[in-house]
Amino acid sequence: MQERPILVLDEGTTSTRAILYSADGKILGVSQSELTQHYPAPGYVEHDANEIWEKTLACAQEMVARAGGADRIAAIGITNQRETVVAWDRQSGNPVTRAIVWQDRRTADRCQELREAGHEKMIGARTGLMLDPYFSATKMSWILEHVPAARELGDRLAFGTVESWLVWKLTQGLHITDASNASRTMLMPLEGVGWDDELLALHGISRASLPEIVDNAGEFERTSPELFGGSIAICGLAGDQQAATIGQNCLSPGDVKATLGTGAFVLANTGTTPRLSSHRLVSTVLAQIGGQRSFALEGSVFVAGSLVKWLRDELCMVGTACETESLARSIADSGGVCILPALSGLGAPHWRAEARGVIAGLTHGTGRAHIVRAALEAMAHQMHDLKVAFDGDGAAWLNLRLDGGMSANDWIAQDLADILDLQVERPLDVETTALGAAMLASVGCGIYGGLEEAARMRPEVTVFRPAMNSEMRRTRLGLWHDVLSSELGKGV
Ligand code: G3P
Repeated sequence: MQERPILVLDEGTTSTRAILYSADGKILGVSQSELTQHYPAPGYVEHDANEIWEKTLACAQEMVARAGGADRIAAIGITNQRETVVAWDRQSGNPVTRAIVWQDRRTADRCQELREAGHEKMIGARTGLMLDPYFSATKMSWILEHVPAARELGDRLAFGTVESWLVWKLTQGLHITDASNASRTMLMPLEGVGWDDELLALHGISRASLPEIVDNAGEFERTSPELFGGSIAICGLAGDQQAATIGQNCLSPGDVKATLGTGAFVLANTGTTPRLSSHRLVSTVLAQIGGQRSFALEGSVFVAGSLVKWLRDELCMVGTACETESLARSIADSGGVCILPALSGLGAPHWRAEARGVIAGLTHGTGRAHIVRAALEAMAHQMHDLKVAFDGDGAAWLNLRLDGGMSANDWIAQDLADILDLQVERPLDVETTALGAAMLASVGCGIYGGLEEAARMRPEVTVFRPAMNSEMRRTRLGLWHDVLSSELGKGV
């Protein structure tokens, strides 16, 4: 294929990356930079939006040079950590405060107030979301209430999620967001165009501060020429979990993917009408192309890879994440140890912000390998709870497509197949989020006529089939549910 490559900017929670893709989906180059995590108070998580921009620009410039210049690149696709809020001055282009990250829990009390005032049902029905600090709206109102510099800007204040901030900087002034990111703010109805007046009023946010909501694919604007020695069209935008769903070719109702990264996010394509959950899942926009929306049901688990990071960095139980796999294989079972990884509270389907982590079942016979194995087993246990919730909502998983850094661990992939009693597929390249953004950009710039055509960019898959006997599965899940109910029963 003679098409020029696509440049993807993949803005994760822990790092920013620029990846160059050939039009048939091969990775031609990667540049990555870690992002500083700021924890100024318990429950607070912040990023420096200037650092995000500067590191993104440097990574992108390296890949543009690798491609041979701006005119050698067909289009840019951006995918990003969702819900994180950036606030900036339209005149200077400078952030007015640090970005408040999706994991930040500072607005838990505000969410409780809104719940007590009876708004939860309306918010759920209109936006598909739970009343939880995870989503953007209460983070924006917190900034308005606590950062005088933001209030004083009046109409000069701009809010946006991370893709919106980067488009602004890349184009020097275009203020847009895509429908998948907008659906995570709690300000956009799932059905209907634009921001919702009642929700804006409830959160005290002015329409003038928000970006215009656009499709996920299309030629939005070109980058300012001085950044890359020539301009490049920005043609794809999507929240990272929606991008991963697209990159996994979950393009038909019933297709399901799970991304195992910092957290774990399961999205099931539910077609062109939103399906509201009665089992504490969220309903979200999967993509909007040509003004036509498709939707997904989502289960968001807050702690996945971050538990392994904690074992490595805080408990020093392993030197590298890869070591967990050989330790888990070195013993037949966890010796009765069970871990509840509620290090940031519990997300779906429990939504208990105040729950705390537990290591249960310790004896004198417990060694490092048992604890590490129990930590890996917790992934499948959490996913099992989600599977039950999806079943309850009539969105049963027929198989599961895995991706994300943690899915490269074969032991975890097999344990998921065993505990879920389901065939699990994993693409040879697990960086599906970036691939989804490349697919959207390639549709946006006209290389492919639609996502179904762009699906040929997806790599081959490895299949994991269930091999565990039902007795063992029952024992594992029984222990997990005992530990879970004991923590939830504390009335935390
Ligand atoms: O909703 C949060 C999610 O978008 C973060 O993803 O991959 O940066 O952990 P990740």
